[in-house]
Amino acid sequence: MSARILLVDDDKALLDALPEALQLRMNGIEIDTSETAIEALERIRDTDYDAIVSDIKMPGMDGLALLHEIRELRPTTPTLMITGHGERDLAVQALRGGAYDFVQKPIDRDYFVASLERAIQLRRLDREVEQQRLALERHARVLEHVDDGVFLIDDGGVIRHWNPAAHAITGVPADQALERKAAETLPGWEVVAPLIPVASMPGPGSLEAKVVPLELDGRELWLSISGVTFSDGIVYAFRSLTEERALDELKGEFIATVSHELRTPLAAIYGSAQTLLREDVEFEESDKKRLLDVIAHESERLSRIADDILFANKLDSGQLALGENGIDLRALARDVVEEMRGCFAAREDISFELTVPDALDSVAGDPDRLRQVLINLIDNAVKYSPDGGRVEVAVESRDGGVRIAVRDEGIGIAPLEQRRIFGKFYRVDPGLARGVGGTGLGLYICRELVRRMDGRLSVSSEEGKGSTFAVDLPVATAAGKDAAAVAQTA
Ligand SMILES: Nc1ncnc2c1ncn2[C@@H]1O[C@H](COP(=O)(O)OP(=O)(O)OP(=O)(O)O)[C@@H](O)[C@H]1O
Ligand SMILES: [Mg+2]
Repeated sequence: MSARILLVDDDKALLDALPEALQLRMNGIEIDTSETAIEALERIRDTDYDAIVSDIKMPGMDGLALLHEIRELRPTTPTLMITGHGERDLAVQALRGGAYDFVQKPIDRDYFVASLERAIQLRRLDREVEQQRLALERHARVLEHVDDGVFLIDDGGVIRHWNPAAHAITGVPADQALERKAAETLPGWEVVAPLIPVASMPGPGSLEAKVVPLELDGRELWLSISGVTFSDGIVYAFRSLTEERALDELKGEFIATVSHELRTPLAAIYGSAQTLLREDVEFEESDKKRLLDVIAHESERLSRIADDILFANKLDSGQLALGENGIDLRALARDVVEEMRGCFAAREDISFELTVPDALDSVAGDPDRLRQVLINLIDNAVKYSPDGGRVEVAVESRDGGVRIAVRDEGIGIAPLEQRRIFGKFYRVDPGLARGVGGTGLGLYICRELVRRMDGRLSVSSEEGKGSTFAVDLPVATAAGKDAAAVAQTA
């Protein structure tokens, strides 16, 4: 056997004779020798021996003290102790101190070799177990760190492994998944599972992952998933395609919305221009003006759509710098409501109302952008009140901040839609919006702008009753307030 051992004894004659005798009986064994415990310790520090043999009685540091050090330094290395004839006490002490075995002088070579072989064998097993443990630990760690969700389902349909990526992707933590039926943890699993390709051996390109939907917590997830069977069940690996999917859908919606939104004004412009160009008709000045008005008005609408798209892009790429002034909200709200009253003068079924407190802290933010937000919200309030009603703008103090609420009595927004309407290009049921146009960018832009002013834009709404959009902004700090004061006196 190939093994390396250390022999420690102050008896030079023994150190000369024993190695030779051992080498004859134990094939391939390598033997180092030390005459003192101190020297032996140095070797032990450098070399991980398969076994150590040491005399107990030595001048200076004795064998028992050495044994103690070995147990500290190399706790798994078996150590055999050599005792003098009849030194039973020492032998017992050695065993108590963690010695693997002891041999008495004069050494019975058969016994010694047999014991040493067993010690070396033990050490070898120990090492193998340790290596397997490390390999297992490494496998577990690898699984913890892969980017793909990985889980194991046993033959009884119970989840037996659930890695952190599986948690991150699905939102289901390991303690809610492990030891439970897959069908409980993953609603719809029974329907989806038969669709998932399962290979009998992992291999390159053996199977193509399938994209399947799963609904978790009201959220639809699209997973690209495949499995491999083995004795413990099926290991599934998956990654989420939800975002790619959502992006694809969004792109589709965007193109549909924008082309629809562009087509209406373009048709009006084209029609008016063609009419004006006709040579067979004599136009009154007033007719001409009406047609030109249409062209002007619709061109304006087109450029507003283009502006919104460009503006949203600018927001996304972080190119937009916002001013940070103290804003006098009472004045700003009055201005905006006046302006919107003017804009919607034709809508006699809509009344505007403004409530502002007598005094108000100035808030931090960019006044032009906040004006843009309010105009958007009021525009929506009117647009989505096809049967008219009251549009109320209320400004009020809240602890540490100020809230501006825009309330309408319009069509309202279904609970499921209330989160989505802030998405880019999202419009609730564009077909059903009673012919009201828009690109679905308004609220996206509003929320982004408010966020950049360290504020929050939220909605509460009841279908058929109306909606309230609330902008919460923090009160300006002293520096901001000074700026507001300067702005007011200037
Ligand atoms: N006050 C409201 N009442 C009911 N629904 C609303 C209200 N405000 C917004 N919505 C819904 O949210 C959707 C998104 O609004 P958003 O302002 O982002 O887009 P839009 O008004 O359709 O188009 P635009 O880009 O021209 O503003 C609207 O299409 C509408 O369905
Ligand atoms: Mg809008």
